Amino acid sequence: MKGSILDTIGSPLVQVDSPDGATVAAKVESFNPGGSAKDRPAQAMVRAAEREGVLEPGDRIVEPTSGNTGIGLALVCAARDYDLTIVMPASKSEERRRIMRAYGADLELVDGDMETARARADELEAEGAVQLGQFENPANPEAHYRTTGEEIVEQVGDREVDAFVAGVGTGGTLSGVGRRLREEFPDVEIVAVEPARNAVLSTGEAGEDGFQGMGPGFVSENLDVDLIDSVETVRLEDAEAECRRLAREEGVLVGQSSGATSIVARRVAERIADPDRECPAVPDAFEAAPPAESDGGEVDDCPLVVTVFWDSGERYLSTGLFD
Ligand SMILES: Cc1ncc(COP(=O)(O)O)c(C=O)c1O
Repeated sequence: MKGSILDTIGSPLVQVDSPDGATVAAKVESFNPGGSAKDRPAQAMVRAAEREGVLEPGDRIVEPTSGNTGIGLALVCAARDYDLTIVMPASKSEERRRIMRAYGADLELVDGDMETARARADELEAEGAVQLGQFENPANPEAHYRTTGEEIVEQVGDREVDAFVAGVGTGGTLSGVGRRLREEFPDVEIVAVEPARNAVLSTGEAGEDGFQGMGPGFVSENLDVDLIDSVETVRLEDAEAECRRLAREEGVLVGQSSGATSIVARRVAERIADPDRECPAVPDAFEAAPPAESDGGEVDDCPLVVTVFWDSGERYLSTGLFD
């Protein structure tokens, strides 16, 4: 038995469709209690603020967010007895709003992008609320270093991670997981993914795109750019087509940013695959043991690409993503 819903934070690492001679695996973060990877930094930021004496139960928290951090915070605030105001661009999905309200959070919608939401959150902070600041709060990447990254190291067992592919919002996931993986596997290649029409890391210029969670339109303080070996871009329509493919062909229901990183993880896997090596399948529920014969050598030599699927496709149903 767990002491709190917050003690259930964590996710499985699941093999997905992989090219010959390589394995692609994803952290399926929809398994977290609030349904996304953002439960991790939400809990960590509240904990850090309590430790620093900045927050105590009963206080009001304010956060600008494109959605999942808001849901993570709404869950943590409900469980720890905080009031919460979320400031969110009105363009983000209806599911996100309803879930936050279900957890008891107050929601302020702004016409504009994340910059507009940040400006409004600053005003509410000036009026007395505590802002946790996911774009600059070190507890955000630290949560991914301590939990997501650590889980990956444990879950790959004897295998080495050759590449890590992550979409970038606040940069918390890429920076925290990237730092932990580099520590464990010094040669790991780290690939950042951003929206093709809002490619700030690749072009230095912000643009307009419909991705939820990825591509904030600026370089976040929490993004450790020194960890990044390369940046790849994905168009929203291609990411959404990949979401439909993952759902229909693999039974993996995920949102837009996960579709984008799935495409790039496969690209990287195709590039580093060793065609002479047959990577033994990871046993699944229908197959108790790995195939008896492998003509390609040891499983731990097979190139492994790890990525993150941040949230569930259920969070995007109203956008028509799966229609
Ligand atoms: C759906 C989704 N994908 C990707 C990200 C990017 O994660 P990070 O903020 O750790 O860079 C987020 C962050 O909010 C998200 O909600």
